[in-house]
Amino acid sequence: MCGIVGYVAPQPPSARTQEVLLDGLGRLEYRGYDSAGIALVTPNGLQVRKEAGKLENLRAMLQADPTDGATAGIGHTRWATHGGPSASNAHPHRAGRIAVVHNGIIENFRSLRAEVENAGRTLLSDTDTEVAAHILDMDYSKRLEDALAADPNVDPARVLVESMRVVTKRLDGAFALLAVTADAPSTIVAARRSSPLVIGLGEGENFLGSDVAAFVSFTTKAAEVGDDEIVLLRPESIEVTNASGEQVEPKTWEVSWDASAAVKGGFDTFMEKEIHDQPAAVADTLLGRVDERGELTLDEMRIDPSVLRSVDKIIVVACGTASYAGHVAKYAIEHWCRIPVEIELAHEFRYRDPIVSEKTLTVAISQSGETMDTIQAIRHAREQGSKVLAIVNTYGSTIAREADAVLYTHAGPEVAVASTKAFLAQITACYLLGLYLAQLRGNKWADEVADYLDNLGAMPARISELLETQEEAIFELGRQYADQESFLFLGRHVGYPVALEGALKLKELAYVHAEGFAAGELKHGPIALVEEGLPVFVIVPTPRRPMLHDKVISNIQEIRARGARTICIAEEGDTAVEPFADSIIRVPATPTLMMPLLTVVPLQIFACALAKAKGLDVDQPRNLAKSVTVE
Ligand code: G6P
Repeated sequence: MCGIVGYVAPQPPSARTQEVLLDGLGRLEYRGYDSAGIALVTPNGLQVRKEAGKLENLRAMLQADPTDGATAGIGHTRWATHGGPSASNAHPHRAGRIAVVHNGIIENFRSLRAEVENAGRTLLSDTDTEVAAHILDMDYSKRLEDALAADPNVDPARVLVESMRVVTKRLDGAFALLAVTADAPSTIVAARRSSPLVIGLGEGENFLGSDVAAFVSFTTKAAEVGDDEIVLLRPESIEVTNASGEQVEPKTWEVSWDASAAVKGGFDTFMEKEIHDQPAAVADTLLGRVDERGELTLDEMRIDPSVLRSVDKIIVVACGTASYAGHVAKYAIEHWCRIPVEIELAHEFRYRDPIVSEKTLTVAISQSGETMDTIQAIRHAREQGSKVLAIVNTYGSTIAREADAVLYTHAGPEVAVASTKAFLAQITACYLLGLYLAQLRGNKWADEVADYLDNLGAMPARISELLETQEEAIFELGRQYADQESFLFLGRHVGYPVALEGALKLKELAYVHAEGFAAGELKHGPIALVEEGLPVFVIVPTPRRPMLHDKVISNIQEIRARGARTICIAEEGDTAVEPFADSIIRVPATPTLMMPLLTVVPLQIFACALAKAKGLDVDQPRNLAKSVTVE
């Protein structure tokens, strides 16, 4: 998840172009901040400046090495996915006559890279974007030469549009791509597929952005760009065409948010925005995982496959929400790979002399990649000879660097302290790891792995459906329970870690007593807590697994009989739960192992709703830190 901005300015070339780009990048920094850069179209040709680190580093560079006035420009703030955070991997990427910024992942970049190298071109970065820039420039340069030979007055901007159309058809994956060339000074040519891109309509100037935050301080009139549409942006005009070259009339709307609300996508809080980012976080984490032979791949694999084949135990180390993602991983990996999986809180693991050997695979899960407890745990595991595989969200973080293999979650930066989208991305990554190991060790056939991946591919749409249909009702529940001081959460099988996470979210955000239990454990003690009016959330397994479902229904009856008010998270069409539920939150039908990607979402919303109803700070709850870098 990166932020991109584009601006086409009226003549003459001016310093405003750079100012508009930097303003936009500042407002997009919440989308990524490991490096930033701009490319300007000046009378002296394309000028590119880019720097690792936050935007202030780029600003300092521009002070030291100023640019000329410009008529068009593109900018980028990055959250690394391909290639670490460095100045060379920062965008824009130059290739021949053009410069490009990109948000997304190009899945077939390996074969395209070979094509670029075979054409005798040298790549200066590890990114998929630079490969796309060269493919685009190779087509454009040739097409322009031919066009000029036929008509010396040809408009290079139209040639670039044609190249963009032809080249994007060759790209697999997701992209929002902006290209500029000095051949067409007041022009940006853009395209998108599955990555966000919107147009900002100004007076004699126009804008592009990953979202309206990029330009909302200059214009509030926005226009949509559809999938596989090509935009020709000029100061006085906008032309949008589809994949066949037909004109499209873009839908326009008036942005009603001010600049600060725009950064939160119009939501009140970052947490609500990030809850809504979850379909994209899951989809992005799944992107680019299957190579050209149809096999699953990890990002940085420094473990020999023979070592992974001989692994006889997996230990997951993590803290907080990340540890519950590990808990879900246990159910999936044991089922698919038949390898025992243990979950350890990183701070406990380190000090209790755990049994770890060369045959143990340690899996560290961390959003920040900087949690000190988890860092110490992986160091300890490596000292015992275990290989460490990290599931992290932050490229180049300590855990990513120290691990032997990395699987990145592509959730983008998470601003709210309480984790939401990173959690769903971690669970998704755990499924990918399970399927990767199952493929490698021969536990599952390729077509079985493909089936699971298809199911995972359907999850983002199901999460969106759940948000659309249930959010309002859950906010109402939050208001209803605003005075309640205690809540219980019950779940069985994969619903158990979801119950734990639901209780944690409520503690973190609403400062109330909340406890999660395995539903079967109820009768062994916790049922003593149940009294008249106590709200109990129950994560109900699908009725398609009667063995799990019927037992949870019995649990609900037990607590209901003792006066509990039950709030059931149940699959659509599960009527058996209705007589015993005070409230029901419906989730779309999904294979059991993948249910946590849905069932946790209502619990996140409820915690947020309760905190809001109590007037609490949702994004920065008291006493908590986003990243705990001390033991
Ligand atoms: C802190 C945060 C939690 C997070 C945990 C682990 O306690 O407040 O939201 O789950 O750290 O963080 P990590 O960055 O390692 O996932």
